[in-house]
Amino acid sequence: MSWNRKHLLDIYSLSKEEILTVLDTAKGFKQVGRRSIKKVPALRGKTVVNLFVEPSTRTRVSFELAAQRLNADIINFTAEASSFKKGETLKDTIRNLEALTADIVIIRHSSAGAAHFLSRVVESSIVNAGDGAHSHPTQALLDLYTMREKKGDLQGKEVTILGDILFSRVARSNIWGLQKLGARVTLCGPPTLVPKSLESMGCKVTYDVKEALSNADIINLLRIQHERQQHSMFPSLGEYSKLFGLNQERLAWLKPDAMIMHPGPINRGVEIESEIADSERSVVLEQVTNGLAVRMAVLFLVSGGKVASLEQKMGDVN
Ligand code: CP
Repeated sequence: MSWNRKHLLDIYSLSKEEILTVLDTAKGFKQVGRRSIKKVPALRGKTVVNLFVEPSTRTRVSFELAAQRLNADIINFTAEASSFKKGETLKDTIRNLEALTADIVIIRHSSAGAAHFLSRVVESSIVNAGDGAHSHPTQALLDLYTMREKKGDLQGKEVTILGDILFSRVARSNIWGLQKLGARVTLCGPPTLVPKSLESMGCKVTYDVKEALSNADIINLLRIQHERQQHSMFPSLGEYSKLFGLNQERLAWLKPDAMIMHPGPINRGVEIESEIADSERSVVLEQVTNGLAVRMAVLFLVSGGKVASLEQKMGDVN
């Protein structure tokens, strides 16, 4: 067990041991979620701020619930209803939150590097909840947790990531995390969204969807990130769906036990047929459930929680 970090900014800088520490800690917190009283006093007296400057459903709500389950005070900061609207800078905003004794600030921002920047200007712990196309570490950690829960050790496992890789912080974070745990990663999608240069990350790049799907133990489908594309990267969503979408015909190419993942939000009928997204092969909602336990683990660890004291901290709130 190893963790001595104040911030969680990306996956790239974590060691294999640190990743496994988060995942093992999350296992304990998942057990807490099965109790009749789902709260533990691990962050009692701490203040957590959810600073979301870009839309989110899963990440924002699960961080909020994670902080509540750990008995922290949680403040939800929404850019639309804040003094950002009056021109206040991100730096001034976070320094004011720190002055209000924020112990942990969870930041989602459309600019790559926003979380790293904040970690240099305040003393609070910073947790990156997604920064531009750069990094989404807790999504990768919950994906890794789900893969290990379902498939065991990831050493030598074949994982295909299919979709918009170029603009995806989820893809980049998954690639780094999967490689640290010994999995082999194949990237597939339209050449405009999956350039061959991504092979420099140590992945295989292919435009042959049949090859990418039929070899995989795990398939992670990614959404087309229209909000980050300056211009259309392919002719139409219909064409994307026809060439790369997971439909019944392509489902037949998969290994019988291949697992289907998607970080959400799903564009039903584009990257995946609705029926497949809702089928037993898909673990989309289990990913969301695991995200809560993983985010509890992250908040616990960055707040200085020692894994050795976890059993004691796991006691019910009375
Ligand atoms: N997967 C993910 O980050 O979803 P949200 O944008 O809803 O948080």
